[in-house]
Amino acid sequence: MSTIFIVGSSSGIGKATAKLFAEKGWTVIATMRSPEKETELTSYQNVFIYPLDVTKPEQISKTVSTVLEKHEVDVLFNNAGYGMKSRFEDMTEETMQKSLNTNLLGMIRVTQKFIPYFKKKKSGLILTTTSLVGEMGLALDGIYAADKWAVTGVCEMLYHELAPFGIQVKIIVPGVVKTGFKMEASAMPGFDQLLKNQTEMLMPDTDNLESPEEVAQDIYKAVTDNDRDRMCYVTGKITKELYEKRQELGDEAFRKYI
Ligand SMILES: NC(=O)c1ccc[n+]([C@@H]2O[C@H](COP(=O)([O-])OP(=O)(O)OC[C@H]3O[C@@H](n4cnc5c(N)ncnc54)[C@H](OP(=O)(O)O)[C@@H]3O)[C@@H](O)[C@H]2O)c1
Repeated sequence: MSTIFIVGSSSGIGKATAKLFAEKGWTVIATMRSPEKETELTSYQNVFIYPLDVTKPEQISKTVSTVLEKHEVDVLFNNAGYGMKSRFEDMTEETMQKSLNTNLLGMIRVTQKFIPYFKKKKSGLILTTTSLVGEMGLALDGIYAADKWAVTGVCEMLYHELAPFGIQVKIIVPGVVKTGFKMEASAMPGFDQLLKNQTEMLMPDTDNLESPEEVAQDIYKAVTDNDRDRMCYVTGKITKELYEKRQELGDEAFRKYI
């Protein structure tokens, strides 16, 4: 069986993925900022928990090298994320730094550590959780959207750069998932109607939001897909509809449609 290294596995999509892969017999390296708080994943014999904060380069180096001394890793799953919502002009320096540092630089730092290892073994898969807002611009997503667009771009670039070395690069694209994901939001005066419209478009049925377990199933399909060359996996009914609508209409017509 294979081994997956998960970044951001303390809750939501990351934890559901850790559990699913463990139940499928994989070895799971579940990394998180506060391993001492974990009580659920500790019950699996094939889950190994390590500390990893994507904003701490030294800790990333230490954890990745310790893990690679003990395990042969097949899949890196970058999933850590920090969310915010704000009027663009109100974003604070602190919020911008935190978002960039976690969502974009964090993903880059961890991925950098795995590339030489995957190149040496001439195989490996780098899967990253992006977002629907990394595929299309919507109002008030600020630096979070910028980070997710950038992460999508980094992944597409790496898809080409790493293909000659037998390394696959894939993204999982969720829309709205029922997790505890916090979008730190400031007051957004003047945007009530627009927010209401966007919310209705993204969540027409709030009782039936996609669950992290459903996303984990799509992550499992992406990782085990026979189509090694496919990069993008959109998850969730509404997210797929919007993504496909953009493909069908083209960028300009889609912006007018939104
Ligand atoms: N939920 C949605 O609607 C949605 C939609 C689109 C995309 N996404 C993306 O899905 C991914 C997972 O989010 P989720 O919905 O499952 O929410 P979540 O339960 O809040 O998970 C976020 C994870 O990221 C971790 N994290 C945050 N900052 C970190 C850092 N500096 N270093 C390491 N780990 C860090 C959190 O760990 P702590 O417990 O330590 O905070 C947590 O495990 C994120 O990348 C998010 O952007 C979510």
